[in-house]
Amino acid sequence: MDARERGYAVVVGGSGDLGRAIALRLGTDGRRITLLARDEERLRAAVEGLRAAGVDASHQVADATDRASVLAAFETAAKDAPALDLVVHAAGLMATDFAMRAAPERWAKMLDANLVSVANVAAAVVPHLRRAGRGTFVAIGSTAGHGGHPGLASYAASKAALRSYLATLQAEVLRHGVRVTLVSPDAVRSAAHQRSGRDPKTLIPESEVAAAVAFAAGLAEGVRIAEIVLESPPPAAKE
Ligand SMILES: NC(=O)c1ccc[n+]([C@@H]2O[C@H](COP(=O)([O-])OP(=O)(O)OC[C@H]3O[C@@H](n4cnc5c(N)ncnc54)[C@H](OP(=O)(O)O)[C@@H]3O)[C@@H](O)[C@H]2O)c1
Repeated sequence: MDARERGYAVVVGGSGDLGRAIALRLGTDGRRITLLARDEERLRAAVEGLRAAGVDASHQVADATDRASVLAAFETAAKDAPALDLVVHAAGLMATDFAMRAAPERWAKMLDANLVSVANVAAAVVPHLRRAGRGTFVAIGSTAGHGGHPGLASYAASKAALRSYLATLQAEVLRHGVRVTLVSPDAVRSAAHQRSGRDPKTLIPESEVAAAVAFAAGLAEGVRIAEIVLESPPPAAKE
């Protein structure tokens, strides 16, 4: 089977908790994988982990908030593998702040990490998918993007803005055969949440987020799902 049949995916944020799980799932499904992030040492470690699981993996260093850096990375990736058909944006920043207290610098940083970086990746890759007349662009949002999460003011707003951005992107490219999906999980069983002492039963396994990405990318050509929302079980209520 050649690369075109197996498919080729780039996972932005592929050295992170969710990114690694998504890359592992897509890679063990048979896709060739490139991980993209800023820290090369973490990228190398993640690639080693994938290779140990039998995945054909490589990495590219880039800062997704920097348009020129992202364009250069995708140009190299596309030259190397014309069969690129799936891009997953799983990079981002999570922090807590209250609606009336979030500092101006925090707003800019959050929007840069969770919105502008997705727009940069879309600008770099969607033209390739559009020319090919096929392909899937997935971004990881959050249930916080649906609003009403005290203490997550700037994070929730950045994820809501991401939903709106992806709806516009989809409206612009669907007729060219490119589909866009948002996968919005509640709290995931990532290192940070595990350290918080939260009951693991109320956290979503990373492999389930990866399964949602694989589902969206595996739909028949011409079929797409706008958003997959993964809800975790609510804390037990006292009866
Ligand atoms: N964990 C959860 O419970 C949860 C729940 C819902 C949604 N999400 C969303 O899922 C996504 C990933 O979360 P996670 O928990 O896996 O985070 P994580 O473990 O902190 O990983 C973040 C990844 O993104 C990369 N990254 C960050 N900024 C970047 C930039 N400017 N350019 C390129 N790469 C960048 C990081 O590598 P470098 O730092 O080396 O660049 C790392 O690979 C985020 O969008 C988050 O909001 C997470």
